[in-house]
Amino acid sequence: MSNVVVVGAQWGDEGKGRIVDWLAEKADIVVRYNGGHNAGHTLVVDGQTYKLALLPSGVVRGKPGLIGNGVALDPEALLAEIGRMAAMGIRVTPEVLQIAETATLVLPVHRAIDAAQERMRAKPIGTTLRGIGPAYEDKVGRRGLRVCDLAEPALLAQKLEALLAHHAAWFRGLGLEPFPLEPMLSDLIAMAPKILPFVGRVWEQLDHAHSSGKRVVFEGSQAVMLDVDWGSYPYVTSSSTIAAGAASGTGIAPSRVGRVLGVSKVYATRVGEGPFTSEVTGAPGDVLRQRGGEYGVNTGRPRRCGWLDTVQLRQSSKVAGIDLLALTKLDVLDGFESVYLCVGYLLDGVRIDYMPATSAEQQRLEPVLQRFDGWDGSTRGTRAYGDLPKQAVALIEAIQREVGVPVAMVTTGPERDDAIVLQSPFA
Ligand code: GDP
Ligand code: IMO
Ligand code: MG
Repeated sequence: MSNVVVVGAQWGDEGKGRIVDWLAEKADIVVRYNGGHNAGHTLVVDGQTYKLALLPSGVVRGKPGLIGNGVALDPEALLAEIGRMAAMGIRVTPEVLQIAETATLVLPVHRAIDAAQERMRAKPIGTTLRGIGPAYEDKVGRRGLRVCDLAEPALLAQKLEALLAHHAAWFRGLGLEPFPLEPMLSDLIAMAPKILPFVGRVWEQLDHAHSSGKRVVFEGSQAVMLDVDWGSYPYVTSSSTIAAGAASGTGIAPSRVGRVLGVSKVYATRVGEGPFTSEVTGAPGDVLRQRGGEYGVNTGRPRRCGWLDTVQLRQSSKVAGIDLLALTKLDVLDGFESVYLCVGYLLDGVRIDYMPATSAEQQRLEPVLQRFDGWDGSTRGTRAYGDLPKQAVALIEAIQREVGVPVAMVTTGPERDDAIVLQSPFA
């Protein structure tokens, strides 16, 4: 049975959640492999909007979900999200959700560090302030707490004390009070019985799934340009967002992750700071923001908008191992007289066809834009390729040519079935 990995191919918010929900119809399990509640994944089903942050996007269909070891899990945020889902009629029980024992815990102290780090940066990253980066720092610093630690309260207290002692020096250095143990410890101990029933051996469940021919969708959060290795460092998140992260972040063999479906809008957005060569400030960037509803799902921040950058998308596709593209939000371009693709860069006046490594060089890039005719009328809800205006088809084909990856899907509205399927992402 074939699996699929869903990877954000730009700077996040490409519509991964709705693509995962669509794929979940034909899947047995959906697994999150990276990030935490910095993610915001939106599903619209029969007019009802679901906003997911930590839960795998298959839960709305009642598909079993797993949260892998690569995820940074804030237990408070998880319980709140399960509560929000319950209020919308979606019951998330241990029968449909299992969390890896070795997932990293995001704690209140991480939120405090995230905020303090942003305040002291000469150039802030514009993080979501959810504590995600500091939690991953503690993980690789080998002092982090993991979900399995919730099962041993005495040891949990010791580990938390050691973690706080480490950070106390830093807080004091900034003239801040060290972060207190209480009420964080008591809150964790109180939450433990609610979280522990969900905890299991995710790697083993994936192995069983493989042996019994089950189909798995791996759900990435964030995106290639926010990847800690391949993104526009340091304006990135702190996890591995690419297909390789699906293996290291869940315990499945890299040879078993299956096809990689990269999700990209037909234009581009970015939240937070950092280089964005094809950004359009003023109109028509403002029009894209209004029509595309480009405001952060969690933080409500307006997203920066611009034209699709095919140089970025080509390079991202290579490093993320993208086999097929899902292009989203075609309907947002309805009514534009002209639309553009960024097809090259000028670095200090010299044309290049790759993304340079340094942030300073990335900031100096000028886009080489190619103009395309827009189209009249609406593509909203179109479900057949043949029903698209010829200008929209020309744009899609140009994207496919420039990026060098086949387009498997095009979405034409936020509703679950507002999509044109050209090729099944499952092998
Ligand atoms: P994710 O983080 O990649 O899952 O994406 P987000 O949920 O943060 O952002 C995508 C936004 O675009 C959501 O508001 C979706 O409802 C919306 N959306 C997704 N696909 C389409 C589409 O084809 N057309 C339109 N108009 N909106 C879409
Ligand atoms: P989804 O899964 C868009 C951005 C933040 C900031 C940078 C680092 O919905 O696509 P962090 O809090 O992770 O340390 O912030 O990454 N960012 C996202 N941008 N979509 C996301 O998730 C994001 N998650 C983090 O805005 O620039
Ligand atoms: Mg999002």
